[in-house]
Amino acid sequence: PDACEARLDRAFNARRLPAPGPHPTPALIEAAAGCAALVVTVTERLDAAAIAALPDTVRLIATVSVGHDHIDVAAARRRGIAVTNTPDVLTDATADLTLLLLLGAARRAKEAMALIAENRWGAWSATGLLGVDIGKRRMGILGMGRIGAAVARRARAFGMDLHYHNRRRAAPEVEAETGARWHPTLDGLLAVSDVLVLNAASTPETRGIVNAATLARLPEGAILVNSARGDLVDDEAVIAALDSGRLFAAGLDVFRGEPALDPRYRDRADVFALPHIGSATMETRVAMGMLALDNVAAVLAGQPPLTPLA
Ligand code: DGY
Repeated sequence: PDACEARLDRAFNARRLPAPGPHPTPALIEAAAGCAALVVTVTERLDAAAIAALPDTVRLIATVSVGHDHIDVAAARRRGIAVTNTPDVLTDATADLTLLLLLGAARRAKEAMALIAENRWGAWSATGLLGVDIGKRRMGILGMGRIGAAVARRARAFGMDLHYHNRRRAAPEVEAETGARWHPTLDGLLAVSDVLVLNAASTPETRGIVNAATLARLPEGAILVNSARGDLVDDEAVIAALDSGRLFAAGLDVFRGEPALDPRYRDRADVFALPHIGSATMETRVAMGMLALDNVAAVLAGQPPLTPLA
């Protein structure tokens, strides 16, 4: 955003790659020559080999995102390079978008919008485009972190009955505020998830966690919502579950290998898909950019970064 660009001009001696990315890793490495910090987004991939190739001057990688599966943080640590992300500032925007995905999927918004866009709306119909009442459904949240809890607060306002699975139980305040019940096992959560919402980070444990076996444990006619990362989901299994009716619909903002996505998602009426816009509000993107620059400023001043990744 302009406000962040203006700060870059004012306060830093920055070398910029044209926006938006993605920028191939060799271009990033070349651009980093002589730089103390590298500011990237989710479109820039910094694996162990890329990190090994960074110039010795680099002391910080600041990603403008909360997710950091595009960076090998352990490899950076081994080279003494700090990595920071932008937590908290995008929680509300991402939780809002998650509810949009749920409502869009539950209320068949894609089909309804097509009637308007294609001028096919015949007449009001007592039986046309019937969706489901989300307030009468149970929501299962996989990953009750900051965004999961913000989703739970919103879903509670819709009257949903809330459940979650985390390896560790959430703080008592979170449970008290949301009324969400902890399920120590994933299977326990799946059994009660009329709506399954993915809010977990992409890690070796969570990649592919939504697959044929886990989808089979959902109640018939469930809704899947993913605003976390596309690789949490096995696309083939999701399509099969939509075909069989195990899933009523899916609301997806993230995809494996994006911006490419399984073309079947594009064509299906029961998939309400958005192009990874969870944090895309003006206020939130400025806050994310500023937090990344706050981290750069701190490290350049010899202070500890504000939001380091462990
Ligand atoms: C993130 O922050 O990880 C989102 O995916 C992009 O805002």
